[in-house]
Amino acid sequence: MKNSLKYSTVFLLLFLTTPEYLYSQSGDQLFLSNCRACHTVGGGKLVGPDLKDVTTRRTEQWLLSFIKSSQTLINSGDKDAVALFNEYNKVQMPDQNLSEAQIKDILAYITKESQSASTTNVVDKGESIKHPVIGKSLAEANRDDINTGKEYFEGTIRFANGGPSCISCHNVDHADMISGGLFAIDLTLTVSRLGPTGVHAMITNPGFPAMKTSFQNNSITPEEAFYLTAFLMKANSDSEFGVVKNSSGFLFNTGLMGSAFLFIVFGGIWWDRKRKSVNHDIFKRQIKSK
Ligand code: HEC
Ligand code: HEC
Repeated sequence: MKNSLKYSTVFLLLFLTTPEYLYSQSGDQLFLSNCRACHTVGGGKLVGPDLKDVTTRRTEQWLLSFIKSSQTLINSGDKDAVALFNEYNKVQMPDQNLSEAQIKDILAYITKESQSASTTNVVDKGESIKHPVIGKSLAEANRDDINTGKEYFEGTIRFANGGPSCISCHNVDHADMISGGLFAIDLTLTVSRLGPTGVHAMITNPGFPAMKTSFQNNSITPEEAFYLTAFLMKANSDSEFGVVKNSSGFLFNTGLMGSAFLFIVFGGIWWDRKRKSVNHDIFKRQIKSK
Protein backbone atom coordinates (compact mmCIF):
# COMPACT_ATOMS: atom_id res chain seq x y z
CA MET A 1 0.00 0.00 0.00
CA LYS A 2 2.78 2.40 0.97
CA ASN A 3 4.65 1.36 -2.13
CA SER A 4 1.78 2.11 -4.45
CA LEU A 5 1.43 5.55 -2.90
CA LYS A 6 5.10 6.20 -3.42
CA TYR A 7 4.88 5.03 -7.03
CA SER A 8 1.85 7.14 -7.81
CA THR A 9 3.79 10.17 -6.64
CA VAL A 10 6.82 9.24 -8.67
CA PHE A 11 4.59 8.57 -11.64
CA LEU A 12 2.86 11.92 -11.26
CA LEU A 13 6.19 13.73 -11.18
CA LEU A 14 7.41 11.85 -14.25
CA PHE A 15 4.16 12.48 -16.02
CA LEU A 16 4.43 16.23 -15.47
CA THR A 17 7.93 16.38 -16.83
CA THR A 18 7.91 14.09 -19.89
CA PRO A 19 6.35 15.72 -22.98
CA GLU A 20 9.36 18.00 -23.61
CA TYR A 21 11.66 15.20 -24.32
CA LEU A 22 9.72 13.80 -27.23
CA TYR A 23 10.19 16.92 -29.25
CA SER A 24 13.50 16.26 -30.84
CA GLN A 25 12.60 12.87 -32.33
CA SER A 26 12.07 12.11 -36.01
CA GLY A 27 9.15 10.20 -37.57
CA ASP A 28 10.76 6.77 -37.37
CA GLN A 29 11.93 7.27 -33.78
CA LEU A 30 8.50 8.57 -32.80
CA PHE A 31 6.94 5.51 -34.42
CA LEU A 32 9.31 3.16 -32.63
CA SER A 33 8.79 4.63 -29.21
CA ASN A 34 5.05 5.32 -29.42
CA CYS A 35 3.44 2.94 -31.89
CA ARG A 36 5.64 -0.09 -32.48
CA ALA A 37 4.42 -1.95 -29.37
CA CYS A 38 1.09 -2.35 -31.14
CA HIS A 39 1.59 -1.75 -34.86
CA THR A 40 3.82 -2.85 -37.69
CA VAL A 41 4.04 -1.42 -41.19
CA GLY A 42 3.73 -4.47 -43.45
CA GLY A 43 4.61 -6.90 -40.65
CA GLY A 44 1.07 -8.06 -39.92
CA LYS A 45 -1.44 -7.40 -37.15
CA LEU A 46 -0.14 -6.98 -33.65
CA VAL A 47 -2.33 -5.45 -30.94
CA GLY A 48 -3.64 -3.03 -33.57
CA PRO A 49 -3.93 -3.26 -37.36
CA ASP A 50 -1.00 -3.38 -39.76
CA LEU A 51 -0.55 0.26 -40.80
CA LYS A 52 0.77 -0.49 -44.29
CA ASP A 53 -1.00 1.86 -46.75
CA VAL A 54 -3.17 3.36 -44.01
CA THR A 55 -2.32 6.82 -45.34
CA THR A 56 -4.02 5.97 -48.63
CA ARG A 57 -6.92 4.09 -47.01
CA ARG A 58 -7.90 7.00 -44.72
CA THR A 59 -7.95 10.78 -45.04
CA GLU A 60 -5.29 12.79 -43.25
CA GLN A 61 -7.93 14.55 -41.14
CA TRP A 62 -9.33 11.23 -39.97
CA LEU A 63 -5.86 9.92 -39.14
CA LEU A 64 -4.96 13.04 -37.18
CA SER A 65 -8.07 12.85 -35.03
CA PHE A 66 -7.89 9.10 -34.55
CA ILE A 67 -4.23 9.10 -33.52
CA LYS A 68 -4.62 12.07 -31.20
CA SER A 69 -7.58 10.55 -29.39
CA SER A 70 -9.23 7.48 -30.88
CA GLN A 71 -11.80 7.33 -28.10
CA THR A 72 -12.98 10.89 -28.78
CA LEU A 73 -13.56 9.98 -32.42
CA ILE A 74 -15.27 6.69 -31.48
CA ASN A 75 -17.53 8.43 -28.98
CA SER A 76 -18.47 11.03 -31.57
CA GLY A 77 -20.02 8.13 -33.51
CA ASP A 78 -17.60 8.07 -36.47
CA LYS A 79 -18.66 4.90 -38.33
CA ASP A 80 -15.20 3.75 -39.44
CA ALA A 81 -13.70 4.32 -36.02
CA VAL A 82 -16.50 2.43 -34.26
CA ALA A 83 -16.25 -0.50 -36.70
CA LEU A 84 -12.49 -0.71 -36.19
CA PHE A 85 -12.84 -0.54 -32.40
CA ASN A 86 -15.33 -3.42 -32.42
CA GLU A 87 -13.20 -5.44 -34.82
CA TYR A 88 -10.29 -5.10 -32.37
CA ASN A 89 -12.29 -6.41 -29.39
CA LYS A 90 -12.66 -2.94 -27.95
CA VAL A 91 -8.98 -2.71 -27.13
CA GLN A 92 -8.38 1.00 -26.59
CA MET A 93 -5.65 2.67 -28.49
CA PRO A 94 -4.17 5.08 -25.92
CA ASP A 95 -4.38 8.82 -26.60
CA GLN A 96 -1.11 10.12 -27.98
CA ASN A 97 0.49 13.12 -26.38
CA LEU A 98 1.89 14.29 -29.72
CA SER A 99 1.65 17.54 -31.66
CA GLU A 100 0.04 17.65 -35.09
CA ALA A 101 3.50 18.12 -36.62
CA GLN A 102 4.79 15.02 -34.89
CA ILE A 103 1.84 12.93 -36.06
CA LYS A 104 2.47 14.15 -39.60
CA ASP A 105 6.10 13.06 -39.28
CA ILE A 106 4.92 9.62 -38.21
CA LEU A 107 2.46 9.45 -41.11
CA ALA A 108 5.25 10.39 -43.53
CA TYR A 109 7.32 7.56 -42.09
CA ILE A 110 4.40 5.12 -42.52
CA THR A 111 3.90 6.21 -46.13
CA LYS A 112 7.60 5.73 -46.85
CA GLU A 113 7.71 2.33 -45.15
CA SER A 114 4.56 1.17 -46.94
CA GLN A 115 6.31 1.47 -50.29
CA SER A 116 9.10 -0.91 -49.36
CA ALA A 117 7.17 -3.24 -47.06
CA SER A 118 5.97 -6.50 -48.53
CA THR A 119 2.72 -7.95 -47.23
CA THR A 120 4.12 -11.47 -47.12
CA ASN A 121 6.31 -10.55 -44.16
CA VAL A 122 3.69 -11.60 -41.60
CA VAL A 123 4.44 -11.47 -37.89
CA ASP A 124 3.87 -14.82 -36.19
CA LYS A 125 1.48 -14.00 -33.37
CA GLY A 126 1.98 -17.44 -31.93
CA GLU A 127 3.79 -18.30 -28.76
CA SER A 128 6.01 -20.77 -30.61
CA ILE A 129 8.79 -18.34 -31.58
CA LYS A 130 12.03 -18.94 -29.69
CA HIS A 131 12.76 -16.02 -27.40
CA PRO A 132 16.00 -14.36 -28.52
CA VAL A 133 17.46 -14.14 -25.03
CA ILE A 134 15.93 -17.06 -23.14
CA GLY A 135 16.34 -19.52 -26.01
CA LYS A 136 12.95 -21.15 -25.63
CA SER A 137 9.45 -20.18 -26.68
CA LEU A 138 6.65 -18.94 -24.44
CA ALA A 139 4.84 -22.21 -25.13
CA GLU A 140 7.78 -24.02 -23.52
CA ALA A 141 7.79 -21.93 -20.34
CA ASN A 142 7.82 -24.22 -17.30
CA ARG A 143 6.65 -23.86 -13.73
CA ASP A 144 9.87 -22.10 -12.64
CA ASP A 145 9.55 -19.52 -15.42
CA ILE A 146 5.94 -18.86 -14.48
CA ASN A 147 6.86 -18.53 -10.83
CA THR A 148 9.70 -16.13 -11.64
CA GLY A 149 7.16 -14.07 -13.61
CA LYS A 150 4.82 -14.05 -10.63
CA GLU A 151 7.62 -12.84 -8.37
CA TYR A 152 8.50 -10.04 -10.77
CA PHE A 153 4.85 -9.10 -11.01
CA GLU A 154 4.50 -8.91 -7.23
CA GLY A 155 7.80 -7.16 -6.71
CA THR A 156 9.34 -10.02 -4.70
CA ILE A 157 12.17 -9.84 -7.24
CA ARG A 158 13.13 -6.32 -8.28
CA PHE A 159 13.50 -5.37 -11.95
CA ALA A 160 17.09 -5.01 -13.14
CA ASN A 161 16.45 -1.42 -14.21
CA GLY A 162 14.40 -0.57 -11.15
CA GLY A 163 10.87 -0.02 -12.52
CA PRO A 164 7.83 -0.25 -10.19
CA SER A 165 6.24 -3.66 -9.64
CA CYS A 166 3.22 -4.36 -11.81
CA ILE A 167 1.02 -5.11 -8.82
CA SER A 168 1.15 -1.47 -7.73
CA CYS A 169 -1.15 -0.64 -10.65
CA HIS A 170 -2.64 -3.94 -11.87
CA ASN A 171 -4.56 -6.84 -10.39
CA VAL A 172 -4.28 -10.45 -11.57
CA ASP A 173 -6.44 -13.19 -10.11
CA HIS A 174 -4.11 -16.04 -9.35
CA ALA A 175 -3.77 -18.63 -6.62
CA ASP A 176 -1.80 -17.44 -3.56
CA MET A 177 -1.51 -13.91 -4.75
CA ILE A 178 -2.71 -10.83 -2.94
CA SER A 179 -4.92 -8.51 -4.92
CA GLY A 180 -3.21 -5.76 -6.81
CA GLY A 181 -3.76 -2.11 -7.65
CA LEU A 182 -6.99 -0.88 -9.16
CA PHE A 183 -5.30 2.01 -10.89
CA ALA A 184 -5.14 0.19 -14.23
CA ILE A 185 -7.00 -2.56 -16.07
CA ASP A 186 -7.21 -6.06 -14.52
CA LEU A 187 -4.71 -8.26 -16.35
CA THR A 188 -6.23 -11.67 -15.60
CA LEU A 189 -7.55 -12.08 -19.15
CA THR A 190 -5.19 -9.79 -20.98
CA VAL A 191 -3.57 -12.64 -22.93
CA SER A 192 -6.96 -13.50 -24.43
CA ARG A 193 -7.32 -9.89 -25.51
CA LEU A 194 -3.89 -9.14 -26.90
CA GLY A 195 -2.31 -12.54 -27.55
CA PRO A 196 1.01 -13.59 -25.97
CA THR A 197 3.15 -11.57 -28.38
CA GLY A 198 0.93 -8.53 -27.95
CA VAL A 199 1.36 -8.74 -24.18
CA HIS A 200 5.09 -9.24 -24.56
CA ALA A 201 5.31 -6.21 -26.88
CA MET A 202 3.23 -4.13 -24.49
CA ILE A 203 5.56 -4.95 -21.59
CA THR A 204 8.82 -4.23 -23.40
CA ASN A 205 7.45 -1.09 -25.02
CA PRO A 206 4.34 0.11 -23.17
CA GLY A 207 2.00 2.33 -25.17
CA PHE A 208 -0.17 3.71 -22.39
CA PRO A 209 1.02 7.06 -21.04
CA ALA A 210 0.77 6.05 -17.39
CA MET A 211 2.74 2.87 -17.87
CA LYS A 212 5.12 4.34 -20.36
CA THR A 213 6.23 7.11 -18.04
CA SER A 214 6.92 4.58 -15.29
CA PHE A 215 9.13 2.44 -17.47
CA GLN A 216 10.80 4.63 -20.06
CA ASN A 217 13.84 5.23 -17.92
CA ASN A 218 13.59 1.83 -16.20
CA SER A 219 12.81 -0.41 -19.13
CA ILE A 220 11.83 -4.02 -18.58
CA THR A 221 14.48 -6.36 -19.99
CA PRO A 222 13.53 -8.99 -22.61
CA GLU A 223 14.08 -11.76 -20.03
CA GLU A 224 11.81 -10.06 -17.51
CA ALA A 225 9.17 -9.59 -20.20
CA PHE A 226 9.40 -13.30 -21.05
CA TYR A 227 8.78 -14.38 -17.44
CA LEU A 228 5.99 -11.84 -16.95
CA THR A 229 4.26 -12.96 -20.14
CA ALA A 230 4.61 -16.63 -19.15
CA PHE A 231 2.99 -15.79 -15.81
CA LEU A 232 0.16 -13.81 -17.43
CA MET A 233 -0.48 -16.69 -19.87
CA LYS A 234 -0.82 -19.08 -16.95
CA ALA A 235 -3.11 -16.75 -15.00
CA ASN A 236 -5.19 -16.34 -18.14
CA SER A 237 -5.61 -20.06 -18.80
CA ASP A 238 -6.23 -20.90 -15.14
CA SER A 239 -8.97 -18.36 -14.94
CA GLU A 240 -10.55 -19.55 -18.21
CA PHE A 241 -10.71 -23.02 -16.69
CA GLY A 242 -11.97 -21.68 -13.38
CA VAL A 243 -8.96 -22.77 -11.30
CA VAL A 244 -8.52 -19.45 -9.55
CA LYS A 245 -8.64 -19.50 -5.81
CA ASN A 246 -9.60 -15.97 -5.05
CA SER A 247 -7.00 -14.87 -2.55
CA SER A 248 -8.40 -11.38 -2.22
CA GLY A 249 -11.40 -13.14 -0.63
CA PHE A 250 -8.95 -14.74 1.78
CA LEU A 251 -7.44 -11.37 2.68
CA PHE A 252 -10.85 -9.81 3.10
CA ASN A 253 -12.10 -12.61 5.34
CA THR A 254 -9.05 -12.65 7.60
CA GLY A 255 -9.33 -8.87 7.80
CA LEU A 256 -12.95 -9.16 8.81
CA MET A 257 -12.24 -11.82 11.43
CA GLY A 258 -9.35 -9.77 12.77
CA SER A 259 -11.41 -6.66 13.22
CA ALA A 260 -14.29 -8.62 14.80
CA PHE A 261 -11.77 -10.01 17.28
CA LEU A 262 -10.42 -6.55 18.10
CA PHE A 263 -13.91 -5.15 18.56
CA ILE A 264 -14.68 -7.85 21.08
CA VAL A 265 -11.39 -7.40 22.99
CA PHE A 266 -11.57 -3.61 23.12
CA GLY A 267 -15.27 -3.73 23.82
CA GLY A 268 -14.40 -5.86 26.87
CA ILE A 269 -11.53 -3.68 28.08
CA TRP A 270 -13.46 -0.43 27.85
CA TRP A 271 -16.81 -1.86 28.77
CA ASP A 272 -17.33 0.84 31.36
CA ARG A 273 -16.70 3.58 28.95
CA LYS A 274 -19.13 2.10 26.55
CA ARG A 275 -21.91 1.92 29.11
CA LYS A 276 -21.29 5.17 30.89
CA SER A 277 -19.87 7.38 28.25
CA VAL A 278 -18.21 10.69 29.03
CA ASN A 279 -21.24 12.37 27.64
CA HIS A 280 -23.34 10.54 30.09
CA ASP A 281 -21.46 12.13 33.03
CA ILE A 282 -21.67 15.59 31.55
CA PHE A 283 -25.30 15.03 30.90
CA LYS A 284 -25.95 14.07 34.53
CA ARG A 285 -23.99 17.06 35.81
CA GLN A 286 -25.98 19.37 33.64
CA ILE A 287 -29.22 17.99 34.88
CA LYS A 288 -28.04 18.39 38.51
CA SER A 289 -26.95 22.00 38.05
CA LYS A 290 -30.37 22.97 36.83
C1 HEC B 1 -1.52 0.03 -26.96
C2 HEC B 1 -1.56 -0.29 -28.34
C3 HEC B 1 -1.52 0.82 -29.38
C4 HEC B 1 -0.57 1.82 -29.50
C5 HEC B 1 0.60 2.11 -28.61
C6 HEC B 1 -0.92 2.53 -30.71
N1 HEC B 1 -2.03 2.00 -31.28
FE1 HEC B 1 -2.89 2.55 -33.02
N2 HEC B 1 -4.38 1.17 -32.73
C7 HEC B 1 -4.44 0.27 -31.70
C8 HEC B 1 -5.65 -0.51 -31.81
C9 HEC B 1 -6.09 -1.61 -30.86
C10 HEC B 1 -6.29 -0.06 -32.97
C11 HEC B 1 -7.63 -0.57 -33.54
C12 HEC B 1 -8.73 0.41 -33.21
C13 HEC B 1 -9.19 0.37 -31.78
O1 HEC B 1 -9.30 -0.70 -31.18
O2 HEC B 1 -9.43 1.47 -31.23
C14 HEC B 1 -5.47 1.01 -33.55
C15 HEC B 1 -5.75 1.69 -34.72
C16 HEC B 1 -4.91 2.61 -35.32
C17 HEC B 1 -5.14 3.26 -36.59
C18 HEC B 1 -6.31 3.00 -37.54
C19 HEC B 1 -5.86 1.91 -38.49
C20 HEC B 1 -6.80 1.64 -39.62
O3 HEC B 1 -6.70 0.53 -40.18
O4 HEC B 1 -7.61 2.49 -39.95
C21 HEC B 1 -4.10 4.10 -36.83
C22 HEC B 1 -3.89 4.98 -38.05
C23 HEC B 1 -3.22 3.98 -35.69
N3 HEC B 1 -3.74 3.08 -34.79
C24 HEC B 1 -2.04 4.68 -35.58
C25 HEC B 1 -1.22 4.66 -34.45
C26 HEC B 1 -0.05 5.48 -34.28
C27 HEC B 1 0.47 6.43 -35.33
C28 HEC B 1 0.46 5.19 -33.06
C29 HEC B 1 1.65 5.82 -32.39
C30 HEC B 1 1.68 7.26 -32.32
C31 HEC B 1 -0.39 4.17 -32.45
N4 HEC B 1 -1.41 3.89 -33.33
C32 HEC B 1 -0.20 3.61 -31.21
C33 HEC B 1 -3.52 0.12 -30.70
C34 HEC B 1 -2.43 0.95 -30.48
C1 HEC C 1 2.06 3.25 -13.07
C2 HEC C 1 1.06 2.26 -13.23
C3 HEC C 1 1.40 1.00 -14.04
C4 HEC C 1 2.39 0.09 -13.78
C5 HEC C 1 3.42 0.11 -12.68
C6 HEC C 1 2.23 -0.95 -14.78
N1 HEC C 1 1.18 -0.66 -15.61
FE1 HEC C 1 0.50 -1.82 -17.13
N2 HEC C 1 -0.89 -0.39 -17.62
C7 HEC C 1 -1.09 0.78 -16.91
C8 HEC C 1 -2.17 1.52 -17.56
C9 HEC C 1 -2.74 2.85 -17.10
C10 HEC C 1 -2.58 0.76 -18.68
C11 HEC C 1 -3.65 1.10 -19.72
C12 HEC C 1 -4.92 0.33 -19.51
C13 HEC C 1 -5.80 1.02 -18.50
O1 HEC C 1 -6.29 2.12 -18.78
O2 HEC C 1 -5.98 0.50 -17.41
C14 HEC C 1 -1.76 -0.45 -18.68
C15 HEC C 1 -1.88 -1.48 -19.61
C16 HEC C 1 -1.20 -2.68 -19.55
C17 HEC C 1 -1.40 -3.79 -20.46
C18 HEC C 1 -2.44 -3.84 -21.59
C19 HEC C 1 -3.71 -4.43 -21.01
C20 HEC C 1 -4.87 -4.61 -21.99
O3 HEC C 1 -5.51 -5.68 -21.92
O4 HEC C 1 -5.15 -3.67 -22.75
C21 HEC C 1 -0.54 -4.79 -20.05
C22 HEC C 1 -0.39 -6.17 -20.68
C23 HEC C 1 0.20 -4.30 -18.92
N3 HEC C 1 -0.24 -3.01 -18.64
C24 HEC C 1 1.16 -5.02 -18.23
C25 HEC C 1 1.93 -4.53 -17.19
C26 HEC C 1 3.01 -5.26 -16.55
C27 HEC C 1 3.44 -6.68 -16.89
C28 HEC C 1 3.55 -4.42 -15.61
C29 HEC C 1 4.78 -4.65 -14.74
C30 HEC C 1 6.01 -4.77 -15.47
C31 HEC C 1 2.80 -3.17 -15.65
N4 HEC C 1 1.82 -3.28 -16.61
C32 HEC C 1 3.02 -2.09 -14.81
C33 HEC C 1 -0.42 1.19 -15.78
C34 HEC C 1 0.65 0.54 -15.20
